[in-house]
Amino acid sequence: MMTIDIITVVPDLLEGPFSHSIMKRAQDKGLLTVRTHNLRKWAINKHAQVDDYPFGGGAGMVLMCEPLANAIEELQINTSYDAIIYMTPDGKTFDQPMANQLSMLQNLLIICGHYKGIDQRIRDQYITMEISIGDYVLSGGELAAAVVVDAIGRLIPGVLSDETSALTDSFQDNLLAPPVYTRPADFRGMKVPEILLQGDPKKVEDWRFEQSVERTKTRRPDLFKED
Ligand code: ADE
Repeated sequence: MMTIDIITVVPDLLEGPFSHSIMKRAQDKGLLTVRTHNLRKWAINKHAQVDDYPFGGGAGMVLMCEPLANAIEELQINTSYDAIIYMTPDGKTFDQPMANQLSMLQNLLIICGHYKGIDQRIRDQYITMEISIGDYVLSGGELAAAVVVDAIGRLIPGVLSDETSALTDSFQDNLLAPPVYTRPADFRGMKVPEILLQGDPKKVEDWRFEQSVERTKTRRPDLFKED
C-alpha cells in the first residue's frame, strides 16, 4: 500500500487526474491512497496568506516558509515519508527509472510550487528530492505532480490487471514500444501485418522486438546508444 500526500494551493487541479481509470482502480483496490492538502489551511493570517513578494524585488510571488513548514510538520506527525518531493523545472528530469524506483517506496509527500516557487529555506530544510517533468515551465507543480503520481501509481504491483503489461511499456528496456493493431484486420484497405494474424507467439514476439528496435533507432537514437 502506497500513500501519497500532496500539498498545493490549487487542490481542484488534482481532483480529476486520480478519479478515473487506472488511478481510480488503484485506490479502489486499496493499493494507493492519494490525499491532497490545501496549503491555505496553514495560512499565516485571516487573509489566508501563503505567499509574499520576493526579497530583492522582481516579478511573481513566493510561497512562504511558515505555512509550508507547518503543513509538512503536521503531516509528518502521522506519516514517516520516504521522500519529500518538490516539483520544479530546475529538478532532476523525471524518467522511467525514477518512476520505477519511486514505485517501490511507501509514503511520499509532494509539494507543488506556484507563482515563482517556494522559499529556498524550505527546499534546504525539508525537501529530499526535486523533480522536473521536462524542460518547459508550467504555471504550477500540480500538473507535474499528477504526471509523476500516474507514472508511479500504475507500477504498484496489482494495479494493472495484466501485471506484465508495465514491463512491455516504452522505455522499460530503453526501447520504444512496437506498433499495435486491433480489429478490423482490413480498415479501408489498410491491412494489419500478416504475422500478427497467424497465431505464432514466437514469431509475434520476434516481430515486436524488431519493430521496437527499428522505432527506437529512427525516433530516439539517443536511447539506443545507452548501455
Ligand atoms: N513546475 C513548473 N514547471 C515544472 C516542470 N516542468 N516540472 C515540474 N514542476 C514544475
